Amino acid sequence: MSANNRKPLIAGNWKMNGSLQGSRALVDDLVAGIGGSAAAEMLLCPPAAYLHPVAGWSAASPIKLGGQNLCEQVGSGAFTGEISGDMLRDVGCTYAIVGHSERRTLYGESDAVVARKFLAAQSVGLIPILCVGESLQERESGQTEAVVTRQVDAILKPHGVGLFAAAVIAYEPIWAIGTGKTASPQQAQEVHALIRALIAAQDATIAAGLRILYGGSVKGSNAHELLAQQDIDGGLVGGASLDAADFLKIYQAATG
Ligand code: PGA
Repeated sequence: MSANNRKPLIAGNWKMNGSLQGSRALVDDLVAGIGGSAAAEMLLCPPAAYLHPVAGWSAASPIKLGGQNLCEQVGSGAFTGEISGDMLRDVGCTYAIVGHSERRTLYGESDAVVARKFLAAQSVGLIPILCVGESLQERESGQTEAVVTRQVDAILKPHGVGLFAAAVIAYEPIWAIGTGKTASPQQAQEVHALIRALIAAQDATIAAGLRILYGGSVKGSNAHELLAQQDIDGGLVGGASLDAADFLKIYQAATG
């Protein structure tokens, strides 16, 4: 890792995968594999239905828990099917993913909705992991910088840089998610540096402490070269987080 004070974060986004029994086996293997290591943070974001049992199975380990999504409404009320930030906190979460590209594209979450979710998470003390990233068509037409800037600015401009002191950003090029196509370390670093520069233009200290994760087909075999980049502070891992051995390999790449 580069010489900075940013503790690497390796987050597993299980998406809508697994079963109660299979999740138990996965968590048991991760708990055994991580031991007491605190050199990097390991975060699990299981389906909401499994958050509570996962919290129990991992209670004696340093593993942290996060929601894959949360309701933009704060408090409680008539919002059928939604899960509030308070509820995530209640079952042991400290993080919440907001604005994952699957939420944006499949469930129509706009930049404005994502910004409200980001604020809702912080209002109850959850650390939002804000996902940003361009589609293949946007990359090929030279719009990567504009898209990522717009997605960060949707929070930065109206709400100020201070919010990024308690947040994480994940750069996830859509064309690399679940496709087996990873951004090259150089391609990823370029966008990570751009994101850090956007924050640094407002506050250099906050930018220096901000963790920016890379996501998109991260696996044990490519984690090391990605994590070696100066502005890559961890990974948001989908498919490979469902395999204990591979996820532990990614975690180890972050600690080595
Ligand atoms: P992937 O997913 O690792 O399966 O590409 C990453 C993500 O969507 O967070």
